[in-house]
Amino acid sequence: MTEHKGFTSNFGAIMAAVGSAVGLGNIWRFPYICGQYGGGAFLVVYLCFVFLIGMALMMTEFVIGRRSQHSPVKAFSTLRPDKPGWRFVGLFGIITCFLILSLYLVISGWTLNYVGDTATGALANMDGTMLDQHFSHFSSSAIRPVICLAIFTIMTAAVILGGVQKGIEKVSKILMPILVLLLVVMCVRSLTLPGSMGGVEYLFKPDFSKLGAAGVLAALGQALFSLSVGMGVMVVYGSYIPKDDNLMRTSLWITVCDTLIALMSGLAIFPAVFSCGLEPAGGPGLVFKVLPMVFNSMNPVTGFPTGTVFAVIFFVLLVTAALTSAISLFEAITAWATESLHIRRTPATLVIALCVIAIAAFCSLSLGPLNHIHIAGMPLFDLVDRLTAAYLPPICALLTVLFFGWVMPGADIHDELSNHGTLKTGYYPVLRFLTRYIAPIALLLVLITGIFGN
Ligand code: TRP
Repeated sequence: MTEHKGFTSNFGAIMAAVGSAVGLGNIWRFPYICGQYGGGAFLVVYLCFVFLIGMALMMTEFVIGRRSQHSPVKAFSTLRPDKPGWRFVGLFGIITCFLILSLYLVISGWTLNYVGDTATGALANMDGTMLDQHFSHFSSSAIRPVICLAIFTIMTAAVILGGVQKGIEKVSKILMPILVLLLVVMCVRSLTLPGSMGGVEYLFKPDFSKLGAAGVLAALGQALFSLSVGMGVMVVYGSYIPKDDNLMRTSLWITVCDTLIALMSGLAIFPAVFSCGLEPAGGPGLVFKVLPMVFNSMNPVTGFPTGTVFAVIFFVLLVTAALTSAISLFEAITAWATESLHIRRTPATLVIALCVIAIAAFCSLSLGPLNHIHIAGMPLFDLVDRLTAAYLPPICALLTVLFFGWVMPGADIHDELSNHGTLKTGYYPVLRFLTRYIAPIALLLVLITGIFGN
């Protein structure tokens, strides 16, 4: 008996895909690189890339997924059975998902730990140096981070076991509105602190001198990462989107939501950092070392621990964002295992969970006890970070868009976008042009600078 495996509604599909897109990339990565590359200047370039290239790639993946009704490996060969070699693009995507998921779980585990640390008040009396030491000590220790990532993986796997409708769709529909609510609370708190306007200025005031070629490429890389495109996850979600859904409108919604949440994250973080007179330094340090300091400064000497409450809210927000992204990565791998390896969903989920915990644990240990073991000249964590940030997604995105632009029959694309001729598709020539020429060239540039640059 075949059951309908997809999302039950348009809203559910949007929530699940927004859940995938909105993640750690929005909340800590976007604000930091936006500030670094000239605020408003970066923002203008980023918005162009997100809406032109990022969204075109998302539509590409949705069309491939929904048309074929398969996960990436089978999707390509279903659409062009005469060219079976393209299925390796799908396989490549699955491997990328696996690696990204491993790294994502390590950092998600940290966010889980910080929910505990802030809720118990363990960080409440620490100054900057102590917070710094606390983070270094925690992230390089052997047991605690591994336990945290294992718990986080179990939470993710539990949702996957629930299935597409009762697990992913249901959880996304609950968690995404909560996430937005928590973010609004954080924005209001941050923007009403004295001296917060310095942070708004840092984020939005255009400084084109800081942008440069590096900033332009960082904007494109961030646009792809933030929308979760380039590794087949959206092909899988595309295969779950209802057939009567308008793919153009759905993609637009997801892109708009993802961008707004990134902007709100900037407004939740920088005004508060500036109001405390702290350095808006970037990377993991911003969230795990600088922000706890900001929260501590909100705690009055006596009375209600306001800062602690906001700290817990913030880390719960991060856990929520990370969870829905981890779910989509996990689902992509599960869909491949059930479809291509013919393993049932439950055993597949359990095996994947164990494998991914093992790799993530190695990544985590490579920051501490196993730091001396180098692969390709660097610890495993750094290697996976390099691969998943600079190389694998652009390669996979490039091949996917080339397939869409040059290999997949144009009539099929048009038929799928117009829902068999029932929707208007005036944008189609633009999409065609973007996916045939602009996106491949842009991706090639990102890839070349990723390999030869820095
Ligand atoms: N978009 C996610 C974020 O902003 C990160 C991410 C990149 C991702 N690629 C993905 C998430 C694929 C899920 C699937 O944090």
